[in-house]
Amino acid sequence: MVVQRIGIVGCGLMGSGIAQCAAEAGCQVVVKEADEALLAKGLNRIHAAWDRSVAKGKATEEQRGTWLQNLHGTLVFADLAECELVVEAIPERLDLKLPTFTELDRVLGPAAILCTNTSSLSVAQLSPALAPARLPRLAGLHFFNPVPMMPLVEVVRTLATSEDTLTALRAFVQQLGKTAVMAPDAPGFIVNRLLVPYLLDAVRCAEQRLSTVEDIDTGMKLGCGHPMGPLHLSDFIGLDTMQSVAEVMFEAFGEPRFKAPALLRQLVAAGRLGRKTGSGFYRWEGEKRMEALPM
Ligand SMILES: NC(=O)c1ccc[n+]([C@@H]2O[C@H](COP(=O)([O-])OP(=O)(O)OC[C@H]3O[C@@H](n4cnc5c(N)ncnc54)[C@H](O)[C@@H]3O)[C@@H](O)[C@H]2O)c1
Repeated sequence: MVVQRIGIVGCGLMGSGIAQCAAEAGCQVVVKEADEALLAKGLNRIHAAWDRSVAKGKATEEQRGTWLQNLHGTLVFADLAECELVVEAIPERLDLKLPTFTELDRVLGPAAILCTNTSSLSVAQLSPALAPARLPRLAGLHFFNPVPMMPLVEVVRTLATSEDTLTALRAFVQQLGKTAVMAPDAPGFIVNRLLVPYLLDAVRCAEQRLSTVEDIDTGMKLGCGHPMGPLHLSDFIGLDTMQSVAEVMFEAFGEPRFKAPALLRQLVAAGRLGRKTGSGFYRWEGEKRMEALPM
């Protein structure tokens, strides 16, 4: 199946990236946001990315023109009615996602596939929002940030997801030029199940003064060939996000390696959330990482 028309709910960090990639892949993309201002902000983020591509010679004016024609914004669920696939990318709150899925189930055709981009909730937890007939067409499509750069998508199956749905989603990921891996509907899926304990261990190393923040990062960067060290990456992800993901995983697995260290909680309580607040393990000037900060 080639997806002709896709709906994206939420045009924030992830939704705008998914919409951008789908429009570039030739889909008609309908993006639904909560209000005019947020919609304009999300669409502008995509337009700015395309402007940069043209300025750098990575895309032609003609391509940008086609992509712009593929992208449509809306504030109403009814405009998603013709979509074959809808990806939800609204904030990580079940109380927001459940009514969104109920609305989507109501407006979409019976063959449409419904996906969530959730990082930490269980995909199956969304089932009560849907009619039983939709459950074989409910799955997770977990993209990575920044979506246009990251080539992986985890396709998450619930116990009810059908083989046809999984086949269609694998083909859609390929249509985007990305690679799909199949993941179980368990907290962290594959990548975060392995990555989160590693990052939390790096925070524990900093807490125990194993070495300086810079040397822990340099060690893993140069010793293991990682593109960035674990504390740098934690600042990049957001320390509040790390804390909430750790809480969900600790609750699910009960293993100490998933427990948020005291230092992480202290930094979050102090408002040092990483890059987005200008300070975390490091001081940040916009996108630029500066010196490590005292702890
Ligand atoms: N940020 C990441 O690195 C990352 C990575 C993978 C997955 N995710 C997941 O993706 C989802 C979105 O995360 P994000 O970082 O893009 O969040 P975000 O806050 O940047 O964007 C969410 C957007 O959804 C909009 N929204 C809220 N309610 C809406 C509604 N009813 N209808 C339409 N739009 C609505 C908000 O206005 C906002 O623009 C979450 O489930 C998150 O866990 C995030």
